[in-house]
Amino acid sequence: MDAITIEPGRSNSVRLEPVPEPGPEQGPIVVESIATGVCGTDAEIVAGEYGEAPEGEGRLVLGHESLGRVVDPGPYGGFEVGDLVVGVVRRPDPVPCRSCAVGESDMCRNGRFTERGIKGRHGFMAERWGIEPEHAVRVSPALGALGVLMEPASVVAKAWEQVDRVGDRAFWEPRTVLVTGTGPIGLLAALIGCQRGLDVVVLGRHDTGPKADLVTGLGARLVFDIDELDDDPDVVVEATGAGTVIAGALDRVAPGGVVCLTGLGGDGHRPRSTLAELATQLVLDNTVVVGSVNANRRHFVKAHDVLCAADQDWLAGLITRRMSPTEAVDALREGGDDVKAVVDWT
Ligand code: BGC
Repeated sequence: MDAITIEPGRSNSVRLEPVPEPGPEQGPIVVESIATGVCGTDAEIVAGEYGEAPEGEGRLVLGHESLGRVVDPGPYGGFEVGDLVVGVVRRPDPVPCRSCAVGESDMCRNGRFTERGIKGRHGFMAERWGIEPEHAVRVSPALGALGVLMEPASVVAKAWEQVDRVGDRAFWEPRTVLVTGTGPIGLLAALIGCQRGLDVVVLGRHDTGPKADLVTGLGARLVFDIDELDDDPDVVVEATGAGTVIAGALDRVAPGGVVCLTGLGGDGHRPRSTLAELATQLVLDNTVVVGSVNANRRHFVKAHDVLCAADQDWLAGLITRRMSPTEAVDALREGGDDVKAVVDWT
């Protein structure tokens, strides 16, 4: 079978090539791929800046945003041929640390976790992949092909859960949220904000095009500068990773508010305040800045509910490009400005 693979640490080593069928180390359930999403992490891996092959192997099968159909449910029950499933990305570290031991490998304490298609485990950009029942999440047929958005939605569901848990440290009735960034993470964070009935403002860069349309399609307000905000937001979900945007968000978050960082990046620009000034402000405002990465099974289940409750036409609009595996190899080399590009294995 064919898979999209890379050599970790070497830029532009991406190619479509024959690989062995998934072995038992991937899990007893065999799944045929329907679609695999492409995200910024994949671009970093393709550029040779991130990623790790399984121990003793030279290449890594890419892909962590999965959707497939069960072709062999394995011996343990729970799944049937034809079921739509998505794979959880992270696996517990081998120690395991206390978080991994209780099923919260998204909170791994020792960094020795592995991740499908990212770190030490083959991913889902293959015609077929294996999965363990405990890491397979069923997708309702009603959601269908849009189930490929489950993984990014799980990351956002986790971020919102972090916001809720931090918020609950004291009286907490948020009304306004600022989402910075109009990629899939930002747009899905805005979706959840709207589903919760919050006033949602999204910081973007362009007033036309699919990203702008998706923001306004939600009924959220699109701004291009944090200074355009009328009120200080109770919640900020930061999804750009850009230093100036983060500094701006920290400046503007309301006292008692929560800033949840989900973006990985950094633009090297000088922040607006010195770190010490910023820290003083955070202390005086009781502001929490919470980092958030990855998601556990619980978040995938939440993500499924969020996606099922969303306007399906709006969700479909997030997928701005469908590519054959061959086209995907070129697209991965070149990058692009899609909201969400997916590899279509059907
Ligand atoms: C994935 C996460 C992963 C993170 C770091 C993100 O793109 O969605 O599942 O933990 O990259 O590897």
